[in-house]
Amino acid sequence: MAKLEAKNIVKYFDHDGQPLKALGGINLTVDEGDFICLVGPSGCGKSTFLRIVAGLQKPEEGQILLDGRPIINTGPDRILVFQEGALFPWLKVQDNVEFGLKIAGIPDSERHEISKRYLEMMDLTKFANSYTYQLSTGMRQRVAIAGALVMDPEVLLMDEPFAALDAQTRDTLLVEMQMIWQKTKKTIIFVTHSVSEATVLGNKIAVFTHRPSTIKKIFSIENKRPRLSEDETLMKYQQEILAELRPEVKSKGDGE
Ligand SMILES: Nc1ncnc2c1ncn2[C@@H]1O[C@H](COP(=O)(O)OP(=O)(O)O)[C@@H](O)[C@H]1O
Ligand SMILES: [Mg+2]
Repeated sequence: MAKLEAKNIVKYFDHDGQPLKALGGINLTVDEGDFICLVGPSGCGKSTFLRIVAGLQKPEEGQILLDGRPIINTGPDRILVFQEGALFPWLKVQDNVEFGLKIAGIPDSERHEISKRYLEMMDLTKFANSYTYQLSTGMRQRVAIAGALVMDPEVLLMDEPFAALDAQTRDTLLVEMQMIWQKTKKTIIFVTHSVSEATVLGNKIAVFTHRPSTIKKIFSIENKRPRLSEDETLMKYQQEILAELRPEVKSKGDGE
């Protein structure tokens, strides 16, 4: 069943006084429990699309439906995780993870119980009382992901969350992310510029064109999990995706 539907999303920005058409009519159906990765040339509007799904920006045309209802604002049913996890350095790890629940007015004991579960899942239990500045980048990103998961969103939105990590940490998180997805059955929309990352994570991969962007092609990958970056069976998909992407990157020619 369609969990989320984007219908003809068009978005313009002002670029030196000229309208710049970033999204040229995005149509996308995300099914319940999909882990869909969005790839496309830099500047094609992937982040813009995710912000529109989050309700942080409004499109000029089109609409997003969540469970058949149009999205008009931000809401706890859609949580966005960025490249640099937005954490509060003055709060301990556990308090960071519980922050959204606290704002939502969930009582202490229930909050602690929920955060305990996700701290365990993210292998952070030992660091519950540390401050986030005492952690590595990879651990901080796990705190940010735990903080998103405790909210139990209908759809988890992730914008290049592993882009700033070293290769080893990323590989670990790629496996953890697949296990979390299998455990929680969450619907995830995950933006990445890495084709390899997309093939490891996604059961679907949507390729964006250069802007004004549309969705050029959607790939399905059913390989068993956990998948690793070096899995040879993924190479065939990576080559096919790159073949779709290459002309989009070349056709830019606008000096960006
Ligand atoms: N707030 C904004 N104001 C003006 N232009 C913007 C704004 N946000 C994004 N853009 C432009 O829209 C295009 C798409 O941006 P973005 O969604 O960040 O792309 P991506 O995430 O695919 O790299 C880019 O050309 C970018 O410069
Ligand atoms: Mg982006």
